[in-house]
Amino acid sequence: MKQIAVVGLGYVGLTTAVGLAQLGHQVLGFDVDDAKVSKLGAGESPIYENGLEAALEGLIHSKALDFTNSLDVVEDFKPEFIFICVSTPQDDSGAADLTILNSVVSQLAGIAEPNSILVIKSTVPVGTGQTIANTLNRTDVFVASNPEFLREGTAMKDFMEPDRIVVGSSNPEVAKRVLDLYEAIDAPKLQTNLESSELIKYAANAYLAMRLSFTNDIAALSEKSNANVDQVLHGMGLDKRIGTAFLKPGPGWGGSCFPKDTNALVAIAKEFGSPLPLVETAIASNNAAIARSVNAITELAGGDLANKKVAVWGIAFKANTDDIRDSPALKIVDSLISKGAEVQAYDPVAVAPDRAGFVLKGTALEGAAGADVLAVLTEWPEFAEVSPDKVAEAMRTSVVYDARRILPKSWRAHVSFIKVLGEASE
Ligand code: UDX
Ligand code: UDX
Repeated sequence: MKQIAVVGLGYVGLTTAVGLAQLGHQVLGFDVDDAKVSKLGAGESPIYENGLEAALEGLIHSKALDFTNSLDVVEDFKPEFIFICVSTPQDDSGAADLTILNSVVSQLAGIAEPNSILVIKSTVPVGTGQTIANTLNRTDVFVASNPEFLREGTAMKDFMEPDRIVVGSSNPEVAKRVLDLYEAIDAPKLQTNLESSELIKYAANAYLAMRLSFTNDIAALSEKSNANVDQVLHGMGLDKRIGTAFLKPGPGWGGSCFPKDTNALVAIAKEFGSPLPLVETAIASNNAAIARSVNAITELAGGDLANKKVAVWGIAFKANTDDIRDSPALKIVDSLISKGAEVQAYDPVAVAPDRAGFVLKGTALEGAAGADVLAVLTEWPEFAEVSPDKVAEAMRTSVVYDARRILPKSWRAHVSFIKVLGEASE
C-alpha cells in the first residue's frame, strides 16, 4: 500500500483516485473546486460515470479514499506519489495550454516529500515532463508520465482492465516504482522514456480519430453509391490487421480528448518540423461529417430551417456520459440554430448551457413534440425503445434523421420518412 495524492478530480482524476484506492492504496484527492470536494466527501459523484458512485461510498467508508481542497492537507499526508490530472485545454492556436499544469507543479514543488514522484496523467505535449523535471528545482523529486486511456462511460472498467499501462521516465527505477502501483492489474506494462510515453498518448488518440474519420467518409461514400455501410465496415474489419472495433459511423467524433489532442498533436508536429498531414485531414474530414448532418437535417426540413422546429435526441458527445465538451451533437445544434431553426432537445443525463433558440425537455416524447424533424445525435440505447407511433403522434411531421444508426428498422412503417446516416434514401 502506498500513499498517493491525486491533484485535479475531473473525469480522469476522480477515476484515477477511485481506481488506485481500489487497488489497495491510501489515496487523497485534491481539487480547487470547493463544491466538488464537499460533494465527494459525502460520497456523491459530481459526474455521471458508470460504477463510480457505488465504488466511492465503500472506499470513503473504509478510509482508503479522502478528499480535500487544501494543499496543506496534501503536504501533511506526505504522499510518495502525486498524480497530476488537471486540465490541459487547447489554446487559440490549437496547442495545449499548460498554464494550469505549470501553476500546480510550482505549488507542488514547495510541498513534495523527498524521494516522491510527480506522475503526470494530464495529456501534455512531448517534452513537457522533461521541462517540468528541469524547472522543478528539486533533485530529490522525480517526474514520470503515465497517460490515461480511459473512455468516459467505461472509465472504471478501463482503469481496472486496461489494454496496457504505459509509464515513462528518464530514470528506469522511477518508472518501475510507478508501474508497481499497478501490480494487481494483469495487463501489458510498457516502460519508456518521458517523451515516448507522452507521444504514445497523442499517437493513440490521433490514430483512433483518423480511423473514425475514415469510417465516416466510407459511410458517406456508401450512402452515395448504394453500398451497405454495415457490410462494408464489417467486411473490412474482419481482416485481423484492421479489426472490427471502433468502426461505427456517426455524426463526427468529439469529446474532451479527440478534438483537443488531434489539434495539439498537429501543433506539436509542426513545432518539431515533422508535420502530420493525415491527422490534419482527419480533422477536416470530421468538420465535413458534422456539416453533412446539418445539411441532411436541412434537406429533411424542406431546404430551409427558418421557423422550423428540430427535435434533437442526445446532446452528450456519446452515450453513457453527461459530458458535452466538443460534442458533435451540440455543434450540429448551434449550426441549426444559426440557420433559423428552433431546437428542442432531450438527453437522458446531459445538460447544455442556455442558448437562444434552444430548449431542453424532460422526456424523449416531449423533445419530439411539435417538431418538423427529429434528429438522433447520441446513441443512448433508450431512444431505440421509444414507440415510433407515439413519436409520429407527437411530431408535426414525422420526418426522422438517425445519425447514430440505432433506431430499429420497424420505425420505417410508423413514421412518414426516415433517413439513416450512411444509407441511400429509399
Ligand atoms: C484532464 C485533461 O483535460 C486531459 O487532457 C488529461 O488527459 C486528463 O485530465 P479531465 O479529467 O476530463 O481531463 O479534466 P476536467 O474534468 O476539466 O478536470 C480537471 C480538474 O482539475 C477539475 O476538477 C478542476 O477543478 C481541477 N483543477 C483545476 C485543480 O484542482 N487545480 C487547478 O489549478 C485547476
Ligand atoms: C477517448 C479515448 O478513446 C480514450 O482512450 C482516452 O484517451 C480519452 O479519449 P472518450 O473521449 O471517452 O475516450 O470517447 P471514445 O469512446 O473514444 O469516443 C470518442 C468519440 O468517437 C465520440 O464522439 C464517439 O461517439 C465517437 N465514436 C467512437 C464513433 O463515432 N464511432 C466509434 O466506433 C467509436
